Amino acid sequence: MIKSLEWTGAGVRLIDQTRLPTEEIYVTCTTYQEVATAIRDMVVRGAPAIGVAAAMGIALGVKQSSAPDIAGLRNEFGQICRAMGETRPTAVNLFWAIRRMQQKFDAVAAQGIHHVKISLVEEAQQLLVEDIAANQAMGRYGAALLPSSGGVLTHCNAGALATCGYGTALGVIRSAIEEGKQLRVFADETRPFLQGARLTTWELMKDGIPTTLIADNMAGAMMRQGKINAVIVGADRIAANGDVANKIGTYTVAVLAKEHSIPFYVAAPWSTVDMNMPGGEGIPIEQRSPREVTHHAGKQVAPDGVQVENPAFDVTPNRYVAAIITERGIARAPYGESLKELAQADSALAGAKH
Ligand code: MRU
Repeated sequence: MIKSLEWTGAGVRLIDQTRLPTEEIYVTCTTYQEVATAIRDMVVRGAPAIGVAAAMGIALGVKQSSAPDIAGLRNEFGQICRAMGETRPTAVNLFWAIRRMQQKFDAVAAQGIHHVKISLVEEAQQLLVEDIAANQAMGRYGAALLPSSGGVLTHCNAGALATCGYGTALGVIRSAIEEGKQLRVFADETRPFLQGARLTTWELMKDGIPTTLIADNMAGAMMRQGKINAVIVGADRIAANGDVANKIGTYTVAVLAKEHSIPFYVAAPWSTVDMNMPGGEGIPIEQRSPREVTHHAGKQVAPDGVQVENPAFDVTPNRYVAAIITERGIARAPYGESLKELAQADSALAGAKH
């Protein structure tokens, strides 16, 4: 399995996703500021990977702190968490991971600085283990939804690279193929950052999964020709009503899928579900540099001074979503009810455990 990110004695080791697919290069961030920059510059990207990278960055910052007492460390910890929280606004996994680290800090603070440092490193590593387990569980639930043969379209990269391993949408596809389904993946190139062309094709081909790359504007024609039998994507934030924020262009694909009566599935860990966000209209959408649109591979492709919009994500209203696959189970419309049930199901479980 590709190691998208990992805790090492030297720091947080990341596969540099800006260099793929032509170069497989790993970078080690040795300070929390370097981790924050890596998230902002998309050296590491994808909602679950961003969350765990941030947790590791926080653990790194705390480990390196020279604060003399717990009050001083708490102060620095707050600064580190704020720096991580300012990197990318849409993926709620980032804020979920920061909260997990804050809860751990509070739980062990009374045991002193040394214990806090060790516990935060352990917690960050635990998030990585949990993320892979969640992806595998999602894969098991979601595989049954995919057809026994045919084409599956995906947008952006919701694979091993976007997570700690196995992937969400691509994890479901992997699971289905492990079960013997004969699937071909159609990967949207995903303008402007090209996560589909650069990353999805790379990781699927590495696994020997049949993959066809298409430009984003080809999806409708492929559907009309009957080449696509299902669509599956990841998510950066799912509102309590089932509206889904994901990579820009996802909404277009969902609308096309509905027109062609093709099921549109979303696979995401529970850490992507924001039960405090009633609907998609409240989800903050990251705006990225115009240069991502005006330039391609470093070459200018638009006139100087042109007005540009570059929202990194869009919101797909819940009515387009056939099912949301999580590690807690599958939610279907009405999502207000099914997501609430999944939320409660786990609290009941957690209550039973303690
Ligand atoms: O801007 P990115 O590359 O971080 O956006 C990634 C996506 O939109 C993914 O589909 C999403 O984070 C889910 S990844 C399992």
